[in-house]
Formats: sequence, C-alpha cells, structure tokens
Amino acid sequence: MKKLIIGNWKMYPSKLKDAQEKFKAIKKIAGTFRNVQTVVCPPLVYISELKKLTTGYRCVLGSQNAWFEKEGAFTGEVSLSMLASIGVQYVIVGHSERRAMGETDELVNKKVLAGIKEKMTVVLCVGERERDQDGEYMRFISEQIKDALHGVQKKELKQIVIAYEPIWAIGKHADHPASIDDALEVTILIKKTLADMFGKDGAIISILYGGSVDAKNAWEFLLKSQVDGLLVGRASLDPKVFGEILESAEKIKPSK
Ligand code: 13P
Repeated sequence: MKKLIIGNWKMYPSKLKDAQEKFKAIKKIAGTFRNVQTVVCPPLVYISELKKLTTGYRCVLGSQNAWFEKEGAFTGEVSLSMLASIGVQYVIVGHSERRAMGETDELVNKKVLAGIKEKMTVVLCVGERERDQDGEYMRFISEQIKDALHGVQKKELKQIVIAYEPIWAIGKHADHPASIDDALEVTILIKKTLADMFGKDGAIISILYGGSVDAKNAWEFLLKSQVDGLLVGRASLDPKVFGEILESAEKIKPSK
C-alpha cells in the first residue's frame, strides 16, 4: 500500500495567491512519486480554487473539518455533502485543535458516519494531552477511538484512517516530537483497539503519526513506528520541506 502523507495547513497562508503557489509547488513534487498518496488540507475558503489545479490523483485535496448534516440552518458551517459534491475526497475529523474549541466525541462520531456516507476517506485524529506514569493515556486514546467509530460497519473500514497526534507534540510550542517508541507504543495500542472492535478486519485501517514531523524525522517514523503515513502541520507549508518528507516516504517499500 502507498504511504499516505497529509499536509494540514491549518489557518495558513493568509492570501489565496500564496496558497496557489504553495499548492502548485507541492503538486509538482508529489506528481513524481508513485509510492505516495499526497493530500493537502488547506483552509476551506481556498478549496474550490485549488481544486482547479488538481488534475491527477497523486496529490488531492482534503478538508480540515466539516459539518455532518447535509444542509440546514447552521450558520458558518460547510457540510461534508457540499465538499463531496465538488470532489473533495478526504476530511480530517476530531483534530485536537477543534476538540479544544468544544468538539465532543459524540459530534466527532456523527462527522465520521457522515463522511463515510459521502464516500469520503475520514482521517480521525486521536491523542492525549499529556502522558502519565500509570498509562491512563492509553485508556483515553482507546476510548476516543471506540467513541468515534461507534456504529461504523466492517465494510466501511477502508474509508477510515486514524492519525495519532499527541497534543504535547503538536505545534511550535511543543518541546519535541514523540519519540519513535512513543509512536510505536500507540500504533500497537490502536491496532489492538481496532482488533477488539472489528476482529481481523480492523487491520485494513491505516494509521498515521502527527506532531512536529519534519524532513529530518519523517523517515524514522515511517520506518520504525509501524505507521502507514504522516499527518504534517507546519512542515507542510514549506513545499521544499514537505517535498523532502514525500521523498522519504517514496523510498520506503510499499507494504500491505
Ligand atoms: P505540527 O506538524 O505543526 O506539529 O502540527 C501537527 C498537526 O496538528 C497536524 O494536524
């Protein structure tokens, strides 16, 4: 299976022209890699414009969020159905920055189910705020997954990706990324949780790591922490650095 590398641009850049230039540069590099599926998740307002620049399938667009109802009186929201109708194939759900704004497990679950219905690939984010000695964070992550995937059918599992993003490793205030061992431990926990929920069918779900990924550490995460890809924040806004991350992924032999 191809490595899945997703760039989450968050609320950057502040001008459409910049977004177009960055996307064009990323698309050009991504188009040369056969073993990597690249997804760029720009601010929602740029999606339609950037969509005009996507021709192939090696670099596609995703949304950072969306609302679960098809349409209705939800001022300021954009629905999964609307995104699907303009050809957006991926959606990030339950990012910790959205959970911090009040998004509950129940809402995350509704978005997961709606994304599946729209035939999109749902990138479910999970991760703990901090680590404790007693391993409470493991129980927390497992519960986040169980709550978010409640009601998902086995035949729908190929539409789910789980991104492990420890909150303490995200963004410019993070002291450091997770260690390879930290990421590996949780990858194994996620696999076990999925096996408990769905039996061997759970193994179809791809697992990503995210949190201070850069051109220097991408290779090691991909090689040693048993993940199928990466969810990249800051580094995805620099086409050169993001290109190097894609190149690392390209060099790893496809699995599964
Ligand atoms: P950084 O790569 O900037 O730490 O962000 C990670 C993230 O939140 C991606 O969704």
